[in-house]
Amino acid sequence: MSNKIALYCRSGFEKECAEEITDKARKKEIFGFAQVKKNSGYVIFECYKMKDVNKLIHQLSFRELIFSRQIIIIGELLKDFSEKDRITPIIDSLSNQIKEAGDLRVEVADTNESKKLLRFCRKLTVPLRHALKEKKILLTKECLQPIVIHVFFITISTCYTGYSYSINNSPFYMGIPRLKFPSDAPSRSTLKLEEAFHIFIPYNEWEQRLQSGMNAVDLGACPGGWTYQLVKRNMIVHAVDNGEIAKSLIDTGQVRHHRIDAFKFQPKFNNITWLMCDVVEKPAKVAALITKWLLNGWCQSAIFNLKLPMKKRYENLSHILYKMQNQLKQKKVNVHMQTKQLYHDREEVTVYVQRIYNRVL
Ligand SMILES: C[S@@+](CC[C@H](N)C(=O)[O-])C[C@H]1O[C@@H](n2cnc3c(N)ncnc32)[C@H](O)[C@@H]1O
Repeated sequence: MSNKIALYCRSGFEKECAEEITDKARKKEIFGFAQVKKNSGYVIFECYKMKDVNKLIHQLSFRELIFSRQIIIIGELLKDFSEKDRITPIIDSLSNQIKEAGDLRVEVADTNESKKLLRFCRKLTVPLRHALKEKKILLTKECLQPIVIHVFFITISTCYTGYSYSINNSPFYMGIPRLKFPSDAPSRSTLKLEEAFHIFIPYNEWEQRLQSGMNAVDLGACPGGWTYQLVKRNMIVHAVDNGEIAKSLIDTGQVRHHRIDAFKFQPKFNNITWLMCDVVEKPAKVAALITKWLLNGWCQSAIFNLKLPMKKRYENLSHILYKMQNQLKQKKVNVHMQTKQLYHDREEVTVYVQRIYNRVL
């Protein structure tokens, strides 16, 4: 039985990841401490009580976590493998933890230093998968089994073995969706919005939520990476920015460029589904702007970036999000809200808000 979980995060944000898991576990009366190694790309959270790991994994939704890319229940660190046989100790360790898993991921933390180790993980995956299937720890056919095995390499001779549940984890290898930069997009930040769609909107809702013909507003749109994503989905976009928007976007006939201040722009018609905002401004000011749009009923859903304050990031961000949720609640605007530091986010996080309408019977 284990009392530890591993959380993957952006390198440099281990402190925020640790503060968040400690805080959110404490709110569920689960106490423990986080081991943090700067720029390692992961955090280990150790519960004081053995049985609390299970409680934590069942009560804390992965979607609630801002700074974690993945959450895994792990055993003790395996050390000093023989170069000749790394598979046997991994299998022995896993056989004490689980049976009948549906998937295997051999992973590393996302740091520059781990790139070489990642190549080794890829090589190890095939023989390890084969051996796990022989021992019936991994099922022979990839199926809808809820358990995912993770073998998390720290160095070539040390790793954690563990597992996550597919209903409460990131479905992506290393917690990172692999996206290809579209060569005709005006900026690399196009990937940020595309990733946000993958992270926040379940695939079975894409057709309905990202429909052709929808109206969208993109605040701080230039040069047009986010607008590109909307245009690609055949939406009509109001791009608000004093800068220059890519001509290729204007040429589609789907984009109207408004050269005005995002904080003064108001939609003329009540038909905006999506509000996007990537303006570089103080996070509290951006949050207040989005709150205004939601309170006025000017949009149905929003995706926006909050640049992280330099000090006490987790504390300040929590305060901003709490204030926003409270203001909406007070005015009886029901929303579903989720915040994540995406792979393509640097010193920032991305927030998704969807208005929920109560059905009148
Ligand atoms: C990070 S860039 C946006 C990149 C864009 N999302 C893309 O994918 O290409 C920030 C943009 O916000 C714009 N901006 C900053 N303050 C603004 C304001 N008050 N009103 C409108 N645009 C603003 C800047 O001109 C800049 O083009």
